[in-house]
Amino acid sequence: MIKHHQEDGILKIQLNRPEKKNAFTNAMYRELTKILAAGDLDPVVKVILISGAGNSFSAGNDIADFIKSPITHDDAPPINLLKVLAQLAKPLIAAVDGVAVGIGATMLLHCDLVYANNEARFIFPFVSLGLVPEGAVSLLMPRLIGHQRSAEILFFGEPLSAEDARQIGFVNKVITEPSALPYAEQRAKTLTALSSSSLLHTKTLLKGGQLKSDVVNQIDIEGKVFIDRLHGLAAKEALTAFLEKRPPNFKGLD
Ligand code: COA
Repeated sequence: MIKHHQEDGILKIQLNRPEKKNAFTNAMYRELTKILAAGDLDPVVKVILISGAGNSFSAGNDIADFIKSPITHDDAPPINLLKVLAQLAKPLIAAVDGVAVGIGATMLLHCDLVYANNEARFIFPFVSLGLVPEGAVSLLMPRLIGHQRSAEILFFGEPLSAEDARQIGFVNKVITEPSALPYAEQRAKTLTALSSSSLLHTKTLLKGGQLKSDVVNQIDIEGKVFIDRLHGLAAKEALTAFLEKRPPNFKGLD
């Protein structure tokens, strides 16, 4: 469910489960983690480009999986993926068409360049699901836009448009074509013509301490609370409500 191939120095990765808006199963997290880690070490790969099939980027964690096999420890597939993303040395570009939800939105804060089409919608629905942010969002988002604007986004979990995301700063450019992918590919190609070592050093300098402990530490801190919440009554109600296509009722569940 993750397609990938290397072409002229670009590792092209496509999340490929379009019938479920590319929602991540545990197997998909494992596969993507392996592909990214291998690509980061492969001398042929200069740039990594990730996109989604079928006019969606990703609807986040598979909700049925959350209920069937909720993660129980911090050595879990989504947490491992986020740590690899946070520590990737090579330039990572995302092309976002359509929805980017949950981890599908979170992972964008770890990309170096994000291009989105006009239809892109970004949702951080953690509180609406009785959960908490993951992937160091609670650290990276306030760094980008401050506490109050982050609270607005994370408390309410309302969809952000491509233009909202560009103004916040985690989308570089809104593409008016049907798909952001051709533009992202062109940008990736431009990077492959530059000095790879210069790019690597520049990414390390830009990320500074972020490549080291504080982001990974925050991923662990959030992960512990997330797992605890995932096993709680509020999350069970919200996730069941999604599958039953009804609004959740959190009354008396805290
Ligand atoms: N897990 C499992 N299935 C999902 C899913 C997810 N995260 N997101 C979407 N799907 C499924 C839907 O159940 C639907 O399946 P069906 O056709 O068998 O009923 C299909 O994908 C299409 O989704 P749909 O809801 O009809 O599309 P939409 O365009 O109306 O809405 C979303 C798209 C992403 C806004 C909406 O599906 C959604 O809110 N999904 C849940 C996102 C989420 O909370 N993820 C977890 C974050 S931690």
